[in-house]
Amino acid sequence: MAISGLDKVVYAVDDTDMAARFWTDFGLAPAKGVLTTVEGAEIEIRPDSDASLPKGLAEGNTAREFIWGAESQADIDAIRAGLECDREVTVDNDGTIHTLDALGYGVGFRVTRRKEIAVEPTGFNAPGNAGRINERGKVYEKATPHRMSHIVLLAPDIEKLKNFYVDRLGFKVTDMYPGRGYFLRAPGSHEHHNLFLLKGGDNIGFHHIAFELRDIHEVFGGGLHMTDKGWETHLGPGRHPLSSCYFWYFKNPCGGAAEYDSDSDYITDGWEPAEWESSPESFAEWAYAEGAARYSGIQTGKT
Ligand SMILES: [Fe+2]
Repeated sequence: MAISGLDKVVYAVDDTDMAARFWTDFGLAPAKGVLTTVEGAEIEIRPDSDASLPKGLAEGNTAREFIWGAESQADIDAIRAGLECDREVTVDNDGTIHTLDALGYGVGFRVTRRKEIAVEPTGFNAPGNAGRINERGKVYEKATPHRMSHIVLLAPDIEKLKNFYVDRLGFKVTDMYPGRGYFLRAPGSHEHHNLFLLKGGDNIGFHHIAFELRDIHEVFGGGLHMTDKGWETHLGPGRHPLSSCYFWYFKNPCGGAAEYDSDSDYITDGWEPAEWESSPESFAEWAYAEGAARYSGIQTGKT
């Protein structure tokens, strides 16, 4: 049952043109009715009048369904058999199975259509260790998201939802705020987390989605490009102590936020999960609340 990561997220929105513009500016590539990452994970935008989708658990525009990719048809068959015992599971024409998770979020599973594509690591120079010799550093005009790295769901009954993904689907806890937040990775993934469950009182609904970029330079290039295009920062740039990644979140007209991330921890079964106290400091080492701007001259703050 080796689920390897996120394959597709389906949003339902009131303005499909604005949604497509957001994701195109974000750096996804339009292809056959969806928008894709370099590795082929997909965002699908549908009108909110589409009655065929699972109902949204947040008000207004939101993500309605999360499709996880697994390695083989045998994996999908095993997932289906494991879920059919206590919930309705439907199968569509392309073999994707659909159901609801323990709190009613729409989820699906299919043989992954992503192709893992390795990138040449960015060279960084450190004292006594030159990783980039006679070569200028990279500057990105915009981001090209490589991978759909994680989603975050609000979970009023967080233990119930965590147990569903761990006990029924084989997800593994990588770090936790006990009773308040669980970082989960899919069993066939090396991401620090593909799914983060967050308890925010009685609130329920999709919170945000994240995409992995090649390096920190691309986080800045992508964030500046989004800002140039008029999209509003939710938070960032900044850095998370848990998962170690750099981030920049933008408010998403499709619902919730969309995050660029880079340089997350790479996890294997040798990783030791840890318990953390939920606090602003454990959420972000540092962060700009209102984005960063292109430099346009010396700004001293003095008149
Ligand atoms: Fe995130």
